[in-house]
Amino acid sequence: MRDKNIILIGFMGVGKGTIARAIVAQSNYFAIDTDDLIESLENTKIKKIFAKEGEPYFRDLEKKCALWCEKNLQGTIISTGGGFYRQENIHKIGTVIYLKASFESIIKRLENAPNSKAKFKKRPLLQDLDKAKDIYNQRVKEYESVADIVIDVDDFDAQKAVKNILKAI
Ligand code: S3P
Repeated sequence: MRDKNIILIGFMGVGKGTIARAIVAQSNYFAIDTDDLIESLENTKIKKIFAKEGEPYFRDLEKKCALWCEKNLQGTIISTGGGFYRQENIHKIGTVIYLKASFESIIKRLENAPNSKAKFKKRPLLQDLDKAKDIYNQRVKEYESVADIVIDVDDFDAQKAVKNILKAI
């Protein structure tokens, strides 16, 4: 099982990157982030890709990235953008772990973060909280049904999440 990839999915701001880094700190895994891959591919920030090229263009890049991950990665923790869970080949990439938290607690976590403003600003789909809540409501069941494993992170205790993930895989 060790060479299987671990894919972290979940809503924007739930802590996929934070938890990926925490797993790395406690294991021999390396981590990669799909938004980082896309930004380096385009040499542009996600926010600018959305503004200049539009969301469908970004989704095409996510697909390209998913195919690349399937072909090239093993034994890697892959943190993903909040919409990456829709990739058709996601189960071919590895074990899918859904980091689950309520919309309200995610927003509270982001608002209380030291660099809160930047965390909202860099996310085009978090500019309008009513719209973001609609997206959350549309996705919440889909995240669960795509997931191989669901990890409750409502308390945002990264260490506890890591323990539960390492136990589950
Ligand atoms: C998105 C989430 C973002 C980023 C893009 C779209 C989404 O990543 O991929 O802005 O559709 O939920 P985070 O989940 O890391 O914020």
